[in-house]
This record gives sequence, C-alpha cells and structure tokens, in this order.
Amino acid sequence: MRSLSALWTGSAVVRDVAVLLRAGRVEAITPDREAKCPNDAEEFDGTGLIGMPGLVDCHTHAIWAGTRLGDFVRRLGGESYAGILEGGGGIHTTVRATGEASEAELTALFRARLGAMLDRGVCTVEVKSGYGLAIEAESRLLRIAVAAAGGQRVQTTFLGAHAIPPGRDRNAYVDEVCGPMLAACAPFASAIDVYCDRGAFTLAEAERILKAGKAAGLAVKAHAEQVEFTGVAALAARLGALSCDHLERIDDAGIAAMAEFGTIAVLLPGAMLYLRDPAPPVAKLRAAGVPLAVATDFNPGSSPVGDLWTCATLACLTMGLTPEEALAGITSVAARALGLPGVGVVETGSVGDLALFQPPPGEIADPRVLVQYMGGHLAKAVWVGGERVR
Ligand code: NIG
Ligand code: FE
Repeated sequence: MRSLSALWTGSAVVRDVAVLLRAGRVEAITPDREAKCPNDAEEFDGTGLIGMPGLVDCHTHAIWAGTRLGDFVRRLGGESYAGILEGGGGIHTTVRATGEASEAELTALFRARLGAMLDRGVCTVEVKSGYGLAIEAESRLLRIAVAAAGGQRVQTTFLGAHAIPPGRDRNAYVDEVCGPMLAACAPFASAIDVYCDRGAFTLAEAERILKAGKAAGLAVKAHAEQVEFTGVAALAARLGALSCDHLERIDDAGIAAMAEFGTIAVLLPGAMLYLRDPAPPVAKLRAAGVPLAVATDFNPGSSPVGDLWTCATLACLTMGLTPEEALAGITSVAARALGLPGVGVVETGSVGDLALFQPPPGEIADPRVLVQYMGGHLAKAVWVGGERVR
C-alpha cells in the first residue's frame, strides 16, 4: 500500500505511510517517501485514504433465524426485556425459530451477516451459540460458525447458558450445560460465556458454569451487570475472564476486580439504547485502568445493530468515549478481549488484516472522522491475512 494519508495503528494515528504485506503478515510500515515496492509485490495506491487494522467485533450473536419484531413493538409499548424473556418470549422466540431452520439456512444467514461486516472492514468476528439451548442444537450452531467462516477470522464462544429452556428444571439444565453440552461444544469453541441476570442464570449457577468451561480449557467471558446487578463481573474477573460485557450496572468492587485481573470491559451501546439502560460507569472504568472495547452485540432482540462503526460512534455519544478510545475499542482492545495477539493492530509482524476507507465527502483523511460520521462506512479495499477480500 503506498501513500496512505493516515493509518490507525491500533493505538495512534500515523500519516503518509506505506504498508508492506507479505506471507500473511505486515512486513513493514515505512514513511511513504522512503518506501520502495519490492518487485514481487503488487502496489495499491492509497492516496487520500484512511487505513485501519481489520476491525474486530468481539461480541455478537450473529447466528440466528427468525424475527423479533414482536418483542421490539412490545418493548416500545412499555414491556421490559426481562419480563418478555421470563414469559417465554425474547431469546426463547429466537431459539424456536433457529431450531426450525436447516443447517443450510443458518449458514446462508450467518454468511450474509458476515459479508455485510466484511464490507465495513470487520475482519474478525466473535460469535456466540446460545440459540440452541440443547446439546445437539448448541453444538450445531458452533459447527456451522466454524464451517461458514470463509474470508474472515471467526472466534466462537459457547453460550449454552443463555437462558433456561421453558419447562426445564434449572438444576438439571445447569448440570447438562456443565457436563454433556460443554463436552459436545468445547471442541468448536475457544471461550465460554454466561448470561447471569434476571430471567437467566444466578451468580451461583454462573460460577459453576464458568468454572466448568475453564476446566475444559475455554477462555472465560460473561454477560455482566446488564439488566440487574449480580456481582458476576467480579466473579468472572477472579476466574481470569478475558472480558466482562455490558456492565451498565457494575459496582466499584466489580471495577476493582476487573482492573486487578486485567479483564477487558466490552461496551455494547446498541443493547444499552434498545433496552433504554443507563450508561455503564465509563469514567470509573477508565480511571481504574480497565481497557475499553466496543462491540455490536449483534442479535435480533437487544441489539439489532450489525454495524460496528455505528457502535463506535454511539459509544462516544452515549457513554463518553473519546474518538481515539472508540477506534482502539473496535480494533486493538477488541482483539485483546478475544485473546488474539497481533490482531486489531498494524505493526511489524502483525496479521495482514487491513481495511482502507475514503473519508466522507469533503472531510479530512483522519480516522476519527469515521467515528464522527455515524456508520455505513464501506471499505474501499480489505485484506485478511494478506489476501485481498474486498
Ligand atoms: O447480549 N442479554 C443477553 N443476551 C443478548 C441478547 C440476546 C437476545 O435478546 O436474543 C445480549 O443482550
Ligand atoms: Fe450479548
């Protein structure tokens, strides 16, 4: 890439650079005037463009079938997210529709969503199971995710503990999640997650589930302190969690534990807005030194938002992030929330994931304008692992 006007490296903006990709990696980043394109390399003219590391969406539920329009209308009419879930709707509506969809249908839906993300420069996508809630149904979703990946990096997370199927005895279900379901899913997942909240799992259940996942070799994550405060952020941090996500209702002890154990805070402004929740205590998280990632939480219920750029902007407007924090939150810090070194950054030796964007008409070539202008930024060109995919 020659003559890139500006490049976000994952932590800073550098100007007028050339980036050499070779053997799937970033081989060199040089001031443009010193750059020489090797004979065997193809040259791409980046004049006027903004370079970004391939974006990282570190929290999605992007494999599902069916609609949740009914929930959306009910919530606008005043019903609560947790109340609808406890009444057998919400997540359970999506579990039923997903169960009725064939493998081919789910693959096509997931690929369509992934494709729209790649169009926007998102090269790494985390995807959770959690719309199966039975042994075969959960492992099927993870298998589909792994097989459908195609051009992107897809990281899978086992979320059998998303909700308790209506009519199931909760102790028996938790036993199943920690035993045979985990055994069936662990080969297709790199992390375990739990939804510890009103209408879902208790703190004691979450502890059993996360410990079982950890013992099976999975990284730990948690949907934490979203609808109600439970204390799961502190628990997960002590278990060495990579990330705790949502955090609208986290307390000081939870923040202190996350800071102590190096747990990343994944902020999800889509869910916060759709559920009309208060903002998480970002100033306190920042002051404690907890790294801040931003993700879409893409799902049909609490966050029907698939555009990571939109979420970066919303994180600034509704949560108080700076544009630089938002840029780090969708790149380098998001990759840390997935435990992926060398991803979400452009530095010598990092993976060759790169996305180039044109500034909005009339704007300057500064990565921050892509946060200032909300969403819909389609990449001019995208490379994953050094391969041109857009
Ligand atoms: O991250 N809150 C739990 N899980 C998802 C929502 C899933 C759904 O509503 O279908 C979330 O918000
Ligand atoms: Fe989620």
